[in-house]
Amino acid sequence: MNSRLPPLKIRNFTLRYPIIQGGMGLGVSWDNLAGAVAKMGCGGTVSSVGTGYWNTKEVRHINGRPLKPVNFAHTENFKAIVREALVKSEGNGAVGVNVLCALTDYERQIKDAVEAGAKYIISGAGLPLRLPEYVGNADIALIPIVSSPRVVNLICKRWKRSGRLPDAIVLEGPKSGGHQGYTYDQCFQPEYQLENMTPHVLKACKAWGNIPLIVAGGVWDIKDIETFIDMGVAGVQVATRFIGTYECDASDVFKQVILNSKQRDIRLLKSPVGYPARGIVNTPLVQRVLTGFRPKIPCISNCVTPCDHGKESNRVGYCIADALGDAWGGFLETGLFFTGSNGYRVTKLQSVRELIEKLVGLREDTDTWEEDPASDEMILGTQQAELAVSVGS
Ligand SMILES: Cc1cc2nc3c(=O)[nH]c(=O)nc-3n(C[C@H](O)[C@H](O)[C@H](O)COP(=O)(O)O)c2cc1C
Repeated sequence: MNSRLPPLKIRNFTLRYPIIQGGMGLGVSWDNLAGAVAKMGCGGTVSSVGTGYWNTKEVRHINGRPLKPVNFAHTENFKAIVREALVKSEGNGAVGVNVLCALTDYERQIKDAVEAGAKYIISGAGLPLRLPEYVGNADIALIPIVSSPRVVNLICKRWKRSGRLPDAIVLEGPKSGGHQGYTYDQCFQPEYQLENMTPHVLKACKAWGNIPLIVAGGVWDIKDIETFIDMGVAGVQVATRFIGTYECDASDVFKQVILNSKQRDIRLLKSPVGYPARGIVNTPLVQRVLTGFRPKIPCISNCVTPCDHGKESNRVGYCIADALGDAWGGFLETGLFFTGSNGYRVTKLQSVRELIEKLVGLREDTDTWEEDPASDEMILGTQQAELAVSVGS
């Protein structure tokens, strides 16, 4: 049986299915998940965030925290993760990386990705204006993440000076997990919702020479995928649903937090990175921050530039590197657990093969979850905004 979905062509490779698994830091998408997804003929994306946690043998750390950017974003570990993912892909699909512009040592991480043999780089959380300069002549697909047609135009104008344009573009809507490309208020406004923003960004992509557009944020099943394909996009990026797989690199505790989550538990939070971030709020760390418990936080990893060596961590009430590192490590008390708006729909673990077969229509999608309509308005409405503002204000 063949899938009804079209293949996705980007630069010099073609994915059998138009699905890229979104990069998930810290450690939620490393070699196991990315390799398994690529093996199925999709794009498997390794996150570059906090690779010093992956294998601590050669990594200098203090109390389990990688010391300084050189250890937090560890060159040898990152390259090893990408290579492992390539081995696990068995030559299928494509293995790429996700590198956030906000990360300290962004340029080094881009060069590491090229040297490791990644097929593509997806880059957002800031404008990747210098990305083409950093990769030089390397034959690697460059895929910026955008939030509007204005950003498409800005990036294309700047990249043209370096003699290249994006090989594809990811539009991330406000149902995504982790950091958002919009303000708190915009996340709730109709014009910024993915389905409403897509036609405008498509138009900009067409104007720059039919750059393939990939949409992300709340894409759950084949129906969603077909809706967007019918609108004219080339592919989708899916992240949250992959947390519910055996191969996902997050700890069992992380997966259990997502499996236990209800719709009302998933909210936007303030983050030291400077963007609102979506995660689970009924966890010990977030509850402590909400009740005003603010011990002084030392900056050990110096992970992102906007945090300014821990200034923002102390203002917001938690360190993003430590909190995400602890979620990866399975520490419920101190971990921060990111998810997209659909996290409550993840109600069981399954294999990547099973999930992708459902996403492409080769297997019946029988996954079930409980809707919580009473909280729906609350989740998308003012109360969420209030909560987002109150955390760390
Ligand atoms: C746990 C988690 C961590 C994420 N971390 C990153 C990240 O490090 N960099 C990034 O660009 N996007 C990150 N994202 C966003 C995803 O790559 C993706 O674009 C988005 O979540 C897609 O929406 P969905 O989760 O509803 O499928 C993260 C998402 C989740 C759920």
